[in-house]
Amino acid sequence: MSRLLDVARQHRPTFSSYPGDKYVLALQDRFPGKVEPLAEPPAGSGLKPVMGEGGLPVVGKTLAMMSRGPELSLEQYERFGPVSWTRVLGMKVVSAIGPDASQAVLVNKDKAFSQDGWEWFIGPFFKRGLMLLDGDEHKYHRRIMQEAFTRPRLEAYVEQLTPIIDAQVPAWPTDEPFLLYPALKQLTLDVAAAVFMGADEEERRSPETAEVAQAFVDCVRAGLAVVRAPVPGLRWHRGLRGRALLEEYFRARIPAKRASDDQDLFAALCHVETDEGHAFTDEDVVSHMIFLMMAAHDTSTITTTATLYFLAKHPDWQERCREESRAYGDGPIDLPGTEKLESLDLVFEEAMRLVTPVPGMARRAVVDTEILGHYVPAGTVVNVSGWASHLLPHLWAAADSFDPTRFDEPRREDKQHRYASMPFGGVHKCIGMNFGRAEVKALVHRVLLTHRVAVPEGYDVRWDMTSLPSPADGLPVVLHRL
Ligand code: HEM
Repeated sequence: MSRLLDVARQHRPTFSSYPGDKYVLALQDRFPGKVEPLAEPPAGSGLKPVMGEGGLPVVGKTLAMMSRGPELSLEQYERFGPVSWTRVLGMKVVSAIGPDASQAVLVNKDKAFSQDGWEWFIGPFFKRGLMLLDGDEHKYHRRIMQEAFTRPRLEAYVEQLTPIIDAQVPAWPTDEPFLLYPALKQLTLDVAAAVFMGADEEERRSPETAEVAQAFVDCVRAGLAVVRAPVPGLRWHRGLRGRALLEEYFRARIPAKRASDDQDLFAALCHVETDEGHAFTDEDVVSHMIFLMMAAHDTSTITTTATLYFLAKHPDWQERCREESRAYGDGPIDLPGTEKLESLDLVFEEAMRLVTPVPGMARRAVVDTEILGHYVPAGTVVNVSGWASHLLPHLWAAADSFDPTRFDEPRREDKQHRYASMPFGGVHKCIGMNFGRAEVKALVHRVLLTHRVAVPEGYDVRWDMTSLPSPADGLPVVLHRL
């Protein structure tokens, strides 16, 4: 068996989280679908077809994707190469896997691909968010938003988030099983409510904030809804209700924010202006806030969860990072302080490689085009599969094992290709990368100073991939006070 499939199989117990997995696989084996071209390339074009296999009628490989995640993509890569297609969520989707295919789509030099790929997944819930905009409009909005992410502003955000982390983490229960993921989700939500919306302690505990948090969860989960119509009680319907609630919530607060001199991100979006005098309208602020809260919250929670999980599994790295944190000291950490935690940086990169918080980046071909010489007709949705690319054994030594030194000098496996490592994307790169990195590191730093984190011998977390990856069992750890 090839090394690639070895890697896929070895990952299997870790990735697979879907309780009906074996039935899905049995069905999949019964209805693999026909291997066929996505479309015949135009005669004389010299292009090759994109080959692939649709899977089950209508649903295609949706369930297999949700149960097997990057393993499925690695199998596609093994069978069909870096560009292939399959049917998910009722639609033929092309996968671009590996650095060359990813670069071709993300750099998008002929402007053949649009962010409209995201529109199909999350458009109704996150419409007009920065990631969903294209071309000049995207540039215009990005330039204004950049003003809310300058270094002095980032320093001020980090100053606001450390007191919340430093107050909550030491109070976590010790010497008993503790579900890390829900605790981190609550904590990062608290941070987002304070730093992004300027909510004080009382507001953060209010039923209204809980409703807003639920609305975000509903919007995120709606993106991968199997039934993509507003049937009451199902994901899509709950997502639309969530969006309406969020719009109302933010819209009602804009006049007060515009009039305030608050230092939170919401106030920043209300006030920022470029040198040319461009600023956001009220409707822009509403859409950007809804998108930013979503983009910031789940991703930071997943990354912190994965980082702490790997530190629990690898006590030597936990100790190494703790030594660095102790060397920094017990006081509130600031932005430059987080940047000094270099070992933690290596672990952070490795955690995102093994569990990529945004597993794929969606685009849509707006004209007939090609990827690495494969014909892609206009209208096709393309998924740039960062997670699968991060596991390719020809790029990453012992790709399935945790080894943060691969990101350190002199190895720097991430530097062998510009698109080898892309947890924060490429063009349309994450505007919150530095904020997210600082938040995750400030949080892990505090945990390392106050607790030793352990998981039972032989425990392997299973990642639920029915939305962005999250631990299927909430990740039970035991914390020991230091
Ligand atoms: C560890 C945490 C994070 C990860 C892994 C992450 C990942 C990503 C990725 C992969 C993209 C590119 C998507 C694409 O090309 O289609 C992206 C875009 C974006 N992210 Fe993040 N993100 C994180 C944290 C944040 C935070 C904290 C914020 C805001 C404070 C944020 C705001 C955004 C925005 C606005 C975009 C769209 C940028 C554009 O289209 O120009 N993200 N993020």
